Amino acid sequence: MRFLSLKVLAILVSGSSLFVSAADADTDTDATDDAADTSITIDSRSLDDIYAAAQLEKGTLRVAWGGDVASSATFISSAFTTKFPNITLDLKVDVSKYHDSFIDRTYQSTNGTDSGVDVAVLQTLHDFTRWKRENRLLRYKAAAFGDIYPQFVDADGAYTGVYMFSFGNVVYEPLKINASDVPTTYPAFLTSDWLNKITLTYPNDDDAILYLFSLIITKYGWGFMSDLLKVQPLWIRGTASPSLVMAENTTDNTRIVSFASSSAFAKGVAVKDIEDVHMMWPQTASIFSTTTMPESAKLFMNYLLSDDWQKIMTASGIATRKTYDKLGVFNLTNVDPTGYGRFMADRASVERWRFQFESILGTSQGLDPIDLQF
Ligand SMILES: *[C@@H]1O[C@H](CO)[C@@H](O)[C@H](O)[C@H]1NC(C)=O
Ligand SMILES: *[C@@H]1O[C@H](CO)[C@@H](O)[C@H](O)[C@H]1NC(C)=O
Ligand SMILES: *[C@@H]1O[C@H](CO)[C@@H](O)[C@H](O)[C@H]1NC(C)=O
Ligand SMILES: *[C@@H]1O[C@H](CO)[C@@H](O)[C@H](O)[C@H]1NC(C)=O
Ligand SMILES: *[C@@H]1O[C@H](CO)[C@@H](O)[C@H](O)[C@H]1NC(C)=O
Repeated sequence: MRFLSLKVLAILVSGSSLFVSAADADTDTDATDDAADTSITIDSRSLDDIYAAAQLEKGTLRVAWGGDVASSATFISSAFTTKFPNITLDLKVDVSKYHDSFIDRTYQSTNGTDSGVDVAVLQTLHDFTRWKRENRLLRYKAAAFGDIYPQFVDADGAYTGVYMFSFGNVVYEPLKINASDVPTTYPAFLTSDWLNKITLTYPNDDDAILYLFSLIITKYGWGFMSDLLKVQPLWIRGTASPSLVMAENTTDNTRIVSFASSSAFAKGVAVKDIEDVHMMWPQTASIFSTTTMPESAKLFMNYLLSDDWQKIMTASGIATRKTYDKLGVFNLTNVDPTGYGRFMADRASVERWRFQFESILGTSQGLDPIDLQF
């Protein structure tokens, strides 16, 4: 705890955020990036006022929503359009690594006049520093901006951490295993008790899972990986998929546990906190400066950070907004909420890790999780 507090203090003192971009670190050509743009004031308008302004815009608000379960679009889309029925929303779910590709491709093929979407909400944190450097992000501070930990926002308002996600906690099928028998450290999964029982997301298919595995291997060494293979995990695509596999309620389903999965979307699974290294990150949102729907985009941004939506998204007790961060993300043991941002910024290291796992597990096989029907 003491160690963590000192680390938090160091971050605050140095004024750095988690969004370290490799290019920023190498060159000093963009000094203005680091100085807070005080000309961007926090938008103090109410949601109603922004809604009124947004209704004067004609068109469709396009949102890239990072995720790997298609139905996750339903929750946010219906919540937003129920509250703001006069805004036409086109929200698409895809994995962040494909959303960013589409955004860049559209930007390039329109000579910088369109980004394909107006708002992006993604886990690829390295994109935000790059897009900012390329002057592609609208500087904007939503009403709740001042309530968010400074480590999770850009001081100029180019991007904002909207809520925390985490991987590493153990998801299990409570009908088939008692909570007290669920391991709370990774090495505890390496005994023959767990043969054919574990399901994991390919680390080489998702950078958040890759970061989790990099933490595990850094702590336990590559021997962990060879021992893990001996208990024959099922490797699948999608971070919700392991939970969905274990939720399949058939007697011949031996897969009952995962330490690399979210529990969202799967009915009947339970979660036990890991007492070992794990990861969490601020899912981050930006408005593109190419938008022709700036007020609608601001409305969406404010809605994500509004009390209504934050209450739904912070049920696990962790949040980028201090008000909803009941557990205190910087007070938790075994996790550094800024670590993933640094990991993602170093693309050469990310690639080395990815190919380490790919050379062991092979390329990820199976349906794109977005095409799975749940
Ligand atoms: C939605 O638009 C209609 C038609 O312009 C208008 O009458 C109505 O008041 C608007 N609804 C809200 C909630 O602002
Ligand atoms: C692209 O935009 C630049 C700057 O706005 C302009 O000079 C150039 O002519 C444009 N190119 C095309 C192919 O439209
Ligand atoms: C759970 O614990 C109870 C009580 O010790 C035991 O009877 C039961 O068999 C256990 N269930 C499983 C799935 O291990
Ligand atoms: C799974 O099957 C068992 C036995 O048929 C039943 O009691 C239980 O409610 C089912 N669980 C879910 C999540 O459907
Ligand atoms: C986290 O720790 C700090 C310093 O000890 C404390 O002031 C703060 O209230 C804690 N946050 C939460 C949410 O528990």
